[in-house]
Amino acid sequence: MRRPLVAGNWKMNGSMQEVSVLLNALAALELPGDVDVAVFPGMLYLAQAGSTLKGIAVGAQDCAVSAGFGAMTGETSATQLKDAGCSMVLVGHSERRELQCESDDTVAGKFVAAQSAGLVPVLCVGETLQQREQGRAIETVTEQVEAVIRVAGIDAFADAVLAYEPVWAIGTGLTATPEQAQQVHEALRGVIACHSAGIAQGLRILYGGSVKADNATELFAQEDIDGGLVGGASLDAEEFGAICRAAG
Ligand code: G3H
Repeated sequence: MRRPLVAGNWKMNGSMQEVSVLLNALAALELPGDVDVAVFPGMLYLAQAGSTLKGIAVGAQDCAVSAGFGAMTGETSATQLKDAGCSMVLVGHSERRELQCESDDTVAGKFVAAQSAGLVPVLCVGETLQQREQGRAIETVTEQVEAVIRVAGIDAFADAVLAYEPVWAIGTGLTATPEQAQQVHEALRGVIACHSAGIAQGLRILYGGSVKADNATELFAQEDIDGGLVGGASLDAEEFGAICRAAG
């Protein structure tokens, strides 16, 4: 039995004042006791999130490919994120793969760096609309996961989270149907199971892509969907709370 996880990725949103309001609203929410909840604010607000929120984990949206400290201007290492109170970090979000040209190798390096600093990596994978239309959705996400397994090893997935986010569903209002999402989640679990059945059984696989309060219940009811990675809807505390309750 996998414990659901609902994670809110705030992306590059929120002023200092808006973040304070959102954090206070989140802190006041009554959240279900049988669901893990996490938020991923911008780097500037991680420490503030950690000190305001109780019972909600805090994660970062990215980390450097190297852990520790050093001459990497503008980067933030997993070691520094851990020091700031983070317990998780997103790696390989499609916006970073696309906008920052992050390759599978870079993503794998970040996954390893995160774990070496004691953070749980949330590995994001997903196909573009073109890849889906070419019938290559499962092949694409399989390659993205296998690239990390080659570098990190399968045992690393015993303490990681996978997030399936079809690129065409992110921020578009187009959600994968529960059946489409389940098909890919089942395939992803199968990829992991080819290496280790036990790790596959315990691995949480989140769905992301226009998750809202009114579609979360149906998505989370699917056998291989263990919660959500929520973007836009996580910026509204009431709606995010409703999504968390849908996972309980
Ligand atoms: O990380 C979150 C995803 O990119 C989903 O974003 O819920 O705004 O579509 P969205």
